[in-house]
Amino acid sequence: MKYTFPKDFWWGSSASGPQTEGRFTGDGKGENIWDYWYELEPEKFFDQVGPDKTSRVYEKYQEDVQLMKQIGHNSFRTSIQWSRLIPNGTGTVNQAAVDFYNHYIDELLANGIEPFFNLYHFDMPLALQEKGGWTNRETVDAYVTYAKTCFELFGDRVKKWFTHNEPIVPVEGGYLYQFHYPNHVIMEEAVAVGYHENLASAKAIQSYHEMDLDGEIGIILNLTPSYPRDENNPEDVKAAQMADTFFNRSFLDPAVKGEFPEELMTVIKELDIVPEIQEGDLAIIKNNTVDLLGINYYQPRRIKAKETPIDPSHGPMPDDYFDYYDMPDKKINPYRGWEIYEKGIYDILTNVRENYGNIRCFISENGMGVEGEERYINEDGQIDDDYRIEFVTDHLKYVHQAIQEGTNCLGYHMWTCMDNWSWTNAYKNRYGFISVDIKNEGKRTIKKSGHWFKTVAENNGFID
Ligand code: BG6
Repeated sequence: MKYTFPKDFWWGSSASGPQTEGRFTGDGKGENIWDYWYELEPEKFFDQVGPDKTSRVYEKYQEDVQLMKQIGHNSFRTSIQWSRLIPNGTGTVNQAAVDFYNHYIDELLANGIEPFFNLYHFDMPLALQEKGGWTNRETVDAYVTYAKTCFELFGDRVKKWFTHNEPIVPVEGGYLYQFHYPNHVIMEEAVAVGYHENLASAKAIQSYHEMDLDGEIGIILNLTPSYPRDENNPEDVKAAQMADTFFNRSFLDPAVKGEFPEELMTVIKELDIVPEIQEGDLAIIKNNTVDLLGINYYQPRRIKAKETPIDPSHGPMPDDYFDYYDMPDKKINPYRGWEIYEKGIYDILTNVRENYGNIRCFISENGMGVEGEERYINEDGQIDDDYRIEFVTDHLKYVHQAIQEGTNCLGYHMWTCMDNWSWTNAYKNRYGFISVDIKNEGKRTIKKSGHWFKTVAENNGFID
């Protein structure tokens, strides 16, 4: 069958500043929470590879843009590192960073690749984290100033902006489940973080629209769908709805509908952890929803009604309201431990069509992290990653189906272009269309999937 995608479909990939740029003498970058956490506890990072050693895009961006072109990209997303542009989070702008991002943007445009820029990808400047990071309302003001600086500096050429990538992840990682600095387990702080991220997003959208810059601004959310163990068991269904409310609707509803889900407000009121909502905040959130929604999808969430006792060693947690369900016989990516469920991407797109006004959206991340890919190197030195081609094909079929049914999906970006630094997993699992040899000055080699993706982009689809 032939799968053809809409005209001008966005074919490309996504990445982030902190995972790709690296740090270089004289680059003027300030410290962020990743630099700091790595200094404190390098052993927490796979093979002790830290954020300074990422894929060296800071010096290799020209070569990288050529490679993107070679694999058929018409668009590419990365993020500005707040701590590179404004090293202390507030105050002086780093001219070396302005020059770098200007050159990077110009290089992309000169090669026919539209730059999509995100403003925040888990990388709080350390100076702001020391004052509480997203738990502190002052960070919202600092972020809005940073966002406006970016729009002023680069908004003449960047026409697709995003306020956050996966804003639920700093909530989960930093304040509930201990996989981001500062590794707290305090739900009251988690709620404040989520609230301030939402408010910051709405305020940045407001500023962007006021500047009348002839582009659009959205948010990128990981909309992991929650499936109940048994659809006919009301307790399982209710538990799955709670997980959906905590992890998806806490950002999706305010971003698209301008309001927080009632179910979420009820729970945080019951727990007495409502953040400080100042006069006018809710109107700002209501009146400044996104133009465009980026959807990241990797895996589903399988849920059952709470069966295990609540852990008394800490305060309330979202999972006091549900348990994770280990579904037998699921397809799994063993390296990352994530279930592969291709239809999930269709279910998200259908939900967005039916319940979120069919907002303009695109798949902003989807991908497969695999460890030890060097064992697939063929005699020509190329990694034959047929599993990745299969993964992308199977997901694209469902994207195609959703589009056929009317979903307003405008593109597909793979995570990621070049293999990059995956937080505490560092370079354990590789996601790229292009391999990066970190032991050999970051040497790049296009994988089989990269060559395949070029044909998909050129044909605006594929036959299968
Ligand atoms: C997404 C993030 O959640 O998944 C990326 O936006 C991340 O930053 C990617 O790298 C892959 O996940 P992980 O945890 O394997 O790096």
